[in-house]
Amino acid sequence: MCGIIGFSGCEPAAPILLDGLARMEYRGYDSAGIAVRSEHKGLQIKKAKGRLQNLSDLTHNGADLEGTLGIGHTRWATHGEPNDINAHPHVSENGQIALVHNGIIENYLEIKESLLQKGVRFTSDTDSEVVAQLLEFYYRESGNMLDSVTRVLHRIEGSYAFGIICSDYPNALIAARKDSPLILGYGKNGNFIASDVTAILKYTRDVAYMDDGEVAVITPHTIDVFNSELEPVEKTRSQVDWDVSAAEKGGYEHFMFKEIMEQPEAIRKTISPRIRNGRVVLDDISMTADYVRQISRICIIACGSSYHVGMVSKYNWERLLRRPVEVCLASEFRYSDPLVDDHSLVIVISQSGETLDTMAAMREAKRRGARTLSIVNVVGSSIARESDDVLYTWAGPEIAVATTKAYSTQLVLMDLVGLYLADQLGSICEEEYREILEQMQLLPEKMQEVLKQTSDVQYYASRYFNHSSIFFIGRNLDYAMGMEGSLKLKEISYIHSEAYASGELKHGTISLIEPGTLVVALGTYAPLFDKAMSNVIEVKARGAEVLALTTEAFREKMEKTADATIAVPETHTILQPSLGVVPLQMFSYYMALQRGCDIDKPRNLAKSVTVE
Ligand code: F6R
Repeated sequence: MCGIIGFSGCEPAAPILLDGLARMEYRGYDSAGIAVRSEHKGLQIKKAKGRLQNLSDLTHNGADLEGTLGIGHTRWATHGEPNDINAHPHVSENGQIALVHNGIIENYLEIKESLLQKGVRFTSDTDSEVVAQLLEFYYRESGNMLDSVTRVLHRIEGSYAFGIICSDYPNALIAARKDSPLILGYGKNGNFIASDVTAILKYTRDVAYMDDGEVAVITPHTIDVFNSELEPVEKTRSQVDWDVSAAEKGGYEHFMFKEIMEQPEAIRKTISPRIRNGRVVLDDISMTADYVRQISRICIIACGSSYHVGMVSKYNWERLLRRPVEVCLASEFRYSDPLVDDHSLVIVISQSGETLDTMAAMREAKRRGARTLSIVNVVGSSIARESDDVLYTWAGPEIAVATTKAYSTQLVLMDLVGLYLADQLGSICEEEYREILEQMQLLPEKMQEVLKQTSDVQYYASRYFNHSSIFFIGRNLDYAMGMEGSLKLKEISYIHSEAYASGELKHGTISLIEPGTLVVALGTYAPLFDKAMSNVIEVKARGAEVLALTTEAFREKMEKTADATIAVPETHTILQPSLGVVPLQMFSYYMALQRGCDIDKPRNLAKSVTVE
C-alpha cells in the first residue's frame, strides 16, 4: 500500500522517481506526487490525482523539475479522499520540508490538535501531513534535521516508511522505517530508497534492507544508517538476482496474463533445487527430525490468496502427516489470544512478505514461543527476515495485483514441505512419497497443456461475462480451490461471487439458485467425483447454468450433465489444485477483459497490504 521512492545523486531526479513509481504503481494508484530540490528553485512539488500518467503528463515526464535530490509517492488512500491535496509529498507550513509516507500514524489526531493550538495550519486530511508539520516544529527549535526526525519518531505511533527532504540540505535524503518496507539502494550515479526493489532494479541490484527503528541519511555517495538512539549501524548489503525484464510486460497486454503464462517456469524454479535423488531437500531450514516429532500443533496463517493456499495445504498436510492442521486468517489470529506455544509450528504464507496482519500474527506466535517457518516470494522482506526459517518461492516479481504465479508456487512449495515433514514423521509410505515427487516434477509440463486451452476459456468468458453473481462449488480440495477461483473473479471483474462447500448448498445457499444462475462446479478431486456430479445435477434441477471443471478422466461423464466443461490433465490427487486453478485464473482474466476492467490495477485494491 503506497509506494515511496527517493533519490540523491548526480543526475536529474524527477525522471528516475517517475520511472520507479511506474514500476511500483501496483502498491497504490489513487494519486501520485514528487518533490525535487534544486539550488535555484528550492523544493518543487507536483501532484496529480488518479493514475501516475497524469503526473508524468503534468511534469513532461519529469523534465519540468530541476534537481538531483527528490522523493516520490504513489498513494492508496487511507486518511482523506484521493485528491491533489491529500496526495503526497506533504510539505511543512513554511515550505521547507517535504515528506512521503507509507503506513498509518495512529496518534495523528492528538498531535494535530496540539499543533493546531500552536497555530500551525494544515492543508490536507491526512495523517502524514502531521509528521511534516511536527518535523518543522522541532526543526525550528534544533536546526538539525536528523535530530528532529528522531524526535518525531519517538513521538509518533503506528507504522511508517518515510522519505524526507529539506531545502536546507542540498544532497541529503532522510529515511526511516517501522513496520512498512524500505530498501536502500546503492547506485553508481546516486543512492536510493524504495518500498520495493522493483522500483530501482533498473539502476542497481546492490541493496540493504532497513530494519524497524532505523534512520538513514542518503547522499549521492554515502548511505549512513543509525538506530533509534542515533548510534551508527552497519548494514549487510545483498545482490538482487531478479531479472529486470520479469517486471516488464514483454509484449503482453497485461501483467496478469503474462504471469499466468509464467507459472510452469516459476514452479520449476521453486521445486527443482529442492528435489535431489528422489528426496525433498530443504537446505534452507534448520528443523531437526527430533523437533518435527515433538510438534503438537501446526497452524498456518495468511491472508487472501495465501490463505487459500493454506486451505489446500490443510487438506493435504492432514492426509500426509496424519496430524491436525489449522489454517487461520492472520487478521483473526492476531487478536484471538491464540493457543500456540513452544511445541507449535506456525507456517506463515505471504507473497510480499510485508502484509501487516500476517506479520503481526507471526510476531504474536513467536511471542508465545512458537517456531515460525515462512513461505515468501520477496527476498529480504520483513516476514522472511523475522521468521525462524524461510523458504522462498522463486516466482520472480509479481506485478499484477491479483496473484497467480505466486499462488501457484506457494502451493507446490507447501506440498514439498508437507512431504518433507511426513518423511520426518514416517507418516507416508515410500511408494506414495515417490509417486507425489514424480508427479510434482511433471507439473510444469502438464500446466503447459492447460495453458493451451486459453481460447476455450476465452469463449466461455464471452458467454458468461454478463452474469452478476456466480457460485463456485466443490468438495475438499475443490472447495479450497474454488475459494481462490471466486476471489480472483471478484477482485478483477467486480462480479459478485462466492465459494461454497458443495455439501453446504442444501443448508441454505441453494435458495439463491434460480434459472440462469451461473455455477462453476469443480469436480477435479477424484475421490469425491460422484458427489460432485450429484451436486451438479442438484443445481441443474433448479435451472442453474453449469460450467464444470474436471479432469480428463471424468470429462465425458461431466459433459453429459454440465452446460460447458473444461478438463485438465490428471496428476496425483494432492497436486490436482495446481492444475485446476489455472483455468480459473484465465476465466477471471477473460471475464474482466470482456467487462473492460482495469485488470492489473483493480479498483480499491493494492498489492502488498501494509496497513491493517
Ligand atoms: C489476491 C491477492 C491477495 C493476497 C493477500 C496476501 O489476488 O493477491 O489476496 O494474497 O493480500 O498477500 P501476501 O501474500 O503478500 O501476504
